[in-house]
Amino acid sequence: MNDEITNVAGDSKAPALDRTGASPEAIISHYDKGEDFFELVLGPELIYSCALFEGDDDLAAAQRRKLDYHIEAANAANAKRVLDVGCGWGAMLRRLVDHAEVPHVVGLTLSPSQANWIRRQPRPGLEVVEQDWRDHKPTRRYDAIISVGAFEHFVQKGLDPAKKLDTYREFFDFCDRMLVAEGKVSLQTIAFSEPHEGHPLLEKTFPDSDLPLIWEPIAAAEGKFVLTTLRNDRDHYYRTLRLWEKNLLAHYAEAIQLVGESAVADFRRYLRLSATGFRTGVVSLLRMSFQKKD
Ligand SMILES: C[S@@+](CC[C@H](N)C(=O)[O-])C[C@H]1O[C@@H](n2cnc3c(N)ncnc32)[C@H](O)[C@@H]1O
Repeated sequence: MNDEITNVAGDSKAPALDRTGASPEAIISHYDKGEDFFELVLGPELIYSCALFEGDDDLAAAQRRKLDYHIEAANAANAKRVLDVGCGWGAMLRRLVDHAEVPHVVGLTLSPSQANWIRRQPRPGLEVVEQDWRDHKPTRRYDAIISVGAFEHFVQKGLDPAKKLDTYREFFDFCDRMLVAEGKVSLQTIAFSEPHEGHPLLEKTFPDSDLPLIWEPIAAAEGKFVLTTLRNDRDHYYRTLRLWEKNLLAHYAEAIQLVGESAVADFRRYLRLSATGFRTGVVSLLRMSFQKKD
């Protein structure tokens, strides 16, 4: 198989017709609080997803370990072209270029402020596009796809279960079209461990988004991909969230100055509620890799 994509027609700027996940507006309402605020909580690399701890790793070391874990799981080191679906503020893209020596990386985000932040630290071969993956229509395939902490936004709450699964299938169909033969996807997502009503605070914090059930990503990949690794690292998300809260408390007054008292209080409640969810096992943190079938 060559790496040209010839079966995807259409204007890459055309909006997706049947969108079932968080809209750009919903994403902006959460992620565009401002980098100064998120930097206080997440640290200078602005990595907004569960870290991967070993021993007494601090947050920065565990976040780097997580980036490298996915790079290895997707077989992305030394690859020619890698796609990051939901690239946030670009830490994975920078790691791929600076450390894994990938000459061309593309990141997709729905947040203009994230895209602009990434563009302020340019690297040769690093490209960020403000685009839903449903609208992404490159002309060449990727060698690997990484997606960390974005799957949680792909469907809206209240969607019919069959339609929800169809949307996840659509994502794996997209990955299948985008990847070269035997290409890999490394995916990280929060999932409900069993059917659950959710929580109003989470709905307020992340509007228009719903979590997958633990089995849904695997079911959605069936037929196109083989599951090659699967871990539930919920204890790592508990630890990450507690460290984010510690950072927030250490910079409380500054955080209030930046986004106001009620937003800070809501954010702290969200961190604590999520930590409890991971501690009790209501939610899981899945890291899974898939290989494209022949
Ligand atoms: C929690 S952040 C995770 C960012 C980054 N991967 C990290 O680990 O720091 C979720 C990201 O997914 C992006 N996102 C959500 N839905 C998306 C979609 N349908 N297409 C592209 N990006 C999406 C958001 O814009 C945001 O950048």
